[in-house]
Amino acid sequence: MSLMTVSCIKADVGSLSGHITVLPEMIEIMEKHLEKEGKKKGLIIDYHVFHCGDDLETVMTHRKGKDNSKIHKLAWDGFVKVAKYAKKRKLYAAGQDLLSDAFSGNVKGQGPGVAEMTFVERKSDPVLIFACDKTEPAAFNLPLFRVFADPFNTAGLVIDPKMIQGFSFEVLDVYKHLMVKLDCPEEMYELLALLGTTSTYAIKRIYKKGAEPLEERIAAEVCTEKLNVQAGRYVGKDDPVAIVRAQSGFPSVGEVLEGFTLGHLVSGWMRGSHKGPLMPVSLKYATPTRFDGPPRVVGLGFQVCDGELIGPKDLFDDVSFDEVRKRCNRVADYMRRHGPFEPHRVSEKELEYTTLPEVLKKIEPRCKKVNE
Ligand code: 13P
Ligand code: 13P
Ligand code: MG
Ligand code: MG
Repeated sequence: MSLMTVSCIKADVGSLSGHITVLPEMIEIMEKHLEKEGKKKGLIIDYHVFHCGDDLETVMTHRKGKDNSKIHKLAWDGFVKVAKYAKKRKLYAAGQDLLSDAFSGNVKGQGPGVAEMTFVERKSDPVLIFACDKTEPAAFNLPLFRVFADPFNTAGLVIDPKMIQGFSFEVLDVYKHLMVKLDCPEEMYELLALLGTTSTYAIKRIYKKGAEPLEERIAAEVCTEKLNVQAGRYVGKDDPVAIVRAQSGFPSVGEVLEGFTLGHLVSGWMRGSHKGPLMPVSLKYATPTRFDGPPRVVGLGFQVCDGELIGPKDLFDDVSFDEVRKRCNRVADYMRRHGPFEPHRVSEKELEYTTLPEVLKKIEPRCKKVNE
């Protein structure tokens, strides 16, 4: 059984201007690094570098499996190089997501976000990469639930004999680091009870039920790193990536994209402290400017051929998403009018690691106990 691994490792290592986008040179530095230190040396088979907002994203294919320290170091060293350039040009928040000075074997917990998937390459294997800016890992809860569990979204759940058995979801409590597996459709309500609490629970992975090895059943992997939880203070956000496999026993590409057509509300807009609609955009429009947003998601469609990344197709670069984007703009307008009020501003718990507690500390001594 020949196993293929796709590793998406991303980081915000500096941006232009404020938190909007990256410089083309930053993409070039990372491409050159992955070509010279990765592909030429036989460490990786192929790679693709892109950005979503101020987050620099890498996609790498290789046969070294998940959590491989050589692959993680390859990405880490690339981000260090790009951060050095960003610092030299005094780009904004240069080195933001590199929480430690030295690499310690795995990028997890060190700042960058990671989604990795190991699978048996099929006769034809469409692999989709989704990357977000100005939001958090749980932004994928609603779309991925719809894609893999909601027959009103995914026709295949009803009409494809290879999908009708449903999918299993692994859900992570991002604070307690507890994982639970729930099967759909049997445990759909329990699953929704968790996934709806986006401030605490995030989908980690999804796979088909069955007796085959996991590498044949794996359907989706999501990056669940929560930066402020790792650093214990606000250090920018955990703009996530996800890998999804489509077609032939999995949802079709169109069914996967259909999951992103609500423009659902997510946390992470402006200072990581506001809720706004997640707008699906083409790569060209992955530049969140209004109030540093609204939050964006881009989709890249690849065909993996013996590890070669054929593509990408810019998946949301289609007029059929115009109405979703229009709705997102209307919702963004409406939400913005709430100014500093919840639910536009996130709840107190979600602000725990921001600078708000410092503001509240100042008035604490003036608070008196009353019988109200
Ligand atoms: P084709 O017949 O074009 O392969 O499409 C199959 C399908 O189900 C797309 O959703
Ligand atoms: P990033 O996490 O994308 O750097 O955004 C920071 C922010 O909150 C901008 O308003
Ligand atoms: Mg930033
Ligand atoms: Mg970002």
